Formats: sequence, structure tokens, C-alpha cells
Amino acid sequence: MPRIAQSPTDPAFVQNPYPFYDRMRALGPLLHWDDYDLPCAVSHAAVNAILRDRRFGRERPDRSPPPDHLRPFYAIDDHSMLELEPPRHTRLRGLVLRAFTARRIAGLEPEIAALAQALIDRFPEGPVDLLPAFAQQIPVIVIARLLGVPEAMKDQLLDWSHAMVAMYQAGRTRAVEDRAASAARDFADFLRGHVEARRARPADDLITHLIAARDAGAQLSTDELIATCVLLLNAGHEATVHAIANGIKVLLEAGGPRDWLSPGRLDATVEEILRVDPPLHLFTRIAYEEVEVMGRRIAAGTEVTCLLAAAGRDPRHWEAPHRFDPGRMAKPHLAFGAGLHFCLGAPLARLEMRTALPILFARRPGLRLVGRPEYADSYHFHGLTALRVEG
Ligand code: HEM
Repeated sequence: MPRIAQSPTDPAFVQNPYPFYDRMRALGPLLHWDDYDLPCAVSHAAVNAILRDRRFGRERPDRSPPPDHLRPFYAIDDHSMLELEPPRHTRLRGLVLRAFTARRIAGLEPEIAALAQALIDRFPEGPVDLLPAFAQQIPVIVIARLLGVPEAMKDQLLDWSHAMVAMYQAGRTRAVEDRAASAARDFADFLRGHVEARRARPADDLITHLIAARDAGAQLSTDELIATCVLLLNAGHEATVHAIANGIKVLLEAGGPRDWLSPGRLDATVEEILRVDPPLHLFTRIAYEEVEVMGRRIAAGTEVTCLLAAAGRDPRHWEAPHRFDPGRMAKPHLAFGAGLHFCLGAPLARLEMRTALPILFARRPGLRLVGRPEYADSYHFHGLTALRVEG
């Protein structure tokens, strides 16, 4: 397998990883990324094949018990559907989907629209950083309301979530691990109390519906309920914040949205944003047996990285892949993954983007960037540190 080296914390890479992905792809669909010391799938075909292949999965069959200081983190992670395979994954995902229904999600549109309007009303005169003022607010408030967690806790939820998802970033240190474990303990304690309160006094919220969800007699245990709420809160806002902010940046860099956010073109524009600058670049899989992918042999037990963002710019799959072109022929991208773990929150993320972006640009048609927005050093996330605009 060809090899390639690139530090995932190198500032030039963090700001623009796409030239490196091109260099990787030129060497073949699968290669060894030295800095992760792992094989890496970079073409659309290879990433798509691995994500859909049941001989690969996320659950580690042979995981040794976690070190003591990380126990609180793994007490949650071990019950997270994202880290499980069938039959537990099937059971958990099925139960969650009984509560997280398409009808319940679609019904949130008026609330998301009202929230976007209210946030814009509060913009200060002059330049504004849209990251804290807009993009960060919508996903956390929406998911907190949906779950029935007090909205006043949103800053606390953001702190816990940031501390926990830092575990997946390149360059993880003991301090990052300690913060994640402490956040996991506090987050779980809070949710345990909240779940008990909802058991005693049911309400019309997702936590109550998750408690009630039953499938052929099966129910979520309290640990599974807590892990699911943490996953929905963390996954439900981290990626969506950056999808909204990257989308605003991409649209402004293209000279404004023209008619791309009109009702007939909106869906295609949102998908093109997710293809061209997705917020999550990399997920891993473990091979459960020896597998041949794109002519390369992968030994049983090997962890493989799948570069979703490289797949989105594969010239064999997308014409002029580096061009942001909402008019391009619609084809599925891999920003939400594929196969068994396909993003459960994709309908909600899409709804938030489809609702918030047109409202922002309708209210502020003269919006323009102030300076050049920078991406945070937090690979495999790909999100901005600030998004200053005026107009
Ligand atoms: C634009 C925003 C989002 C992006 C780009 C995104 C992306 C992804 C990706 C790539 C995966 C699959 C990971 C893998 O295959 O290993 C995933 C899984 C998941 N996402 Fe999202 N996500 C977003 C928003 C959301 C939201 C809003 C929620 C919930 C409210 C959510 C909940 C989940 C859950 C629960 C899973 C695990 C599904 C499973 O393991 O079966 N995501 N997401």
C-alpha cells in the first residue's frame, strides 16, 4: 500500500486539507497515512464501499477495559449506538427512531424559523461574529428543546459537549482525557436526574418518548437512555454548527447566494455545501475479517480511516470537484456517512440548514465577510473559529 505523511495539526493542512486529499487520491484509493499509522480510504468508491460493507464495523470486539481515569467517558461511550454493531445497534437505533420520528422533526420548522429571526433581531450594529451569534445557537437550542432539557442550560451543555468530543481530535493529551471524563460524569449525573424526573412526570418531549419507546417488548435501559441523550446532544449540535457556518462562508465566498436559496434550489444548495466543505472529515471502521477492497488486502482487526471529505472532492465521481456549484447534477454525497451508521440526525441537520440560511440572507442581503475566516485546529472536525461579517 502506498504511504503518505501529513500532520493533522499542521496549520496549513488545518486551514485547507483538500490539496493533501488530492495528493493522497493520486496515489490510489487506499493508502497508509503515516501520522495515524492506519490505512485510509480516500476515493468516493472506496469510502462508500467500506461504510456499506458489513465485514467492517465500529464496535471493537477485543477492546481492553479503559484506564481508570477514562471510565466515566466509556461508561457512556459503551452504550452509544455509534460505537455498536448489530444486534445491539439495531435494537438501540430502532428504539430511538420510534421517538425521533420524521413527523416530529418536520414539526420543528416554525420554531427554527422563529429562533433564526429572533437571533438576527439581536445582532449588534456593525460587524458581527455569526459563529456565536447565529450558527452556534440554533443547533443547541433546537436539540435542547427537542429533548426537553432546560434551554437555560445551553452554555453548560456546550461546555460538556466540547470537552467530550475533544476525545476524537488529533493530538489528544491527558488533560483532554481528564476534561472529557469529568464532563462525562457531570453530564451523566445531570441526565440521570432529568430522566428520573421525566419518569415521574412525563412531558411531550423526546426524553419522555425515549423512555416510553418499546420494540417487541424491548426498552432502553437507563444507561442507554443517558448515552443516547448525550449522543443526540453532542452529535446534534457540534456538526450542525459547523455545517451552518461553513455554508455561510462558502456562499459569501461565492459572491452571495444569488437565487441558490430560493425554494426550488435550496435543497441542492444545502447538499452542495455538505459535499464541498463538510464539518466531519474522518470516521474509522474495524475489519472483522480479512477483506479485499479496491484490490488491496486488509487484515482482520485492522482499523481503517474513511475520509468523507476526500470522497466529496473525488474527480472520478464529481466534475470539477473543487468548484462550489449548487447547480450540479444531484448525487448522494458521504458527509452523513453511509450504511448502518448513516447519520440518524440528517433530517434535522438538513431542516436547520434549509430554514436558517434563507432567513439569514433574506434579512441581510448585503452580508459580506470581514477578513478571512479561519478553521479551528481540531481535526477531524472542520469548523471555523469565528465568522465575522458585516452588512
Ligand atoms: C450537518 C450536520 C451533521 C453531520 C455532517 C453528521 C454526520 C454524521 C456522520 C458522518 C455519521 C456516521 C458516522 C460513522 O459512520 O461512523 C453520523 C452519525 C450519527 N449522527 Fe450525525 N451528523 C450531523 C448532524 C446530526 C444531528 C443534528 C444529530 C441528532 C440530533 C445527529 C445524530 C447522529 C447519530 C445518533 C449518529 C449515529 C448513528 C448510528 O450509529 O446508527 N447527527 N452523523
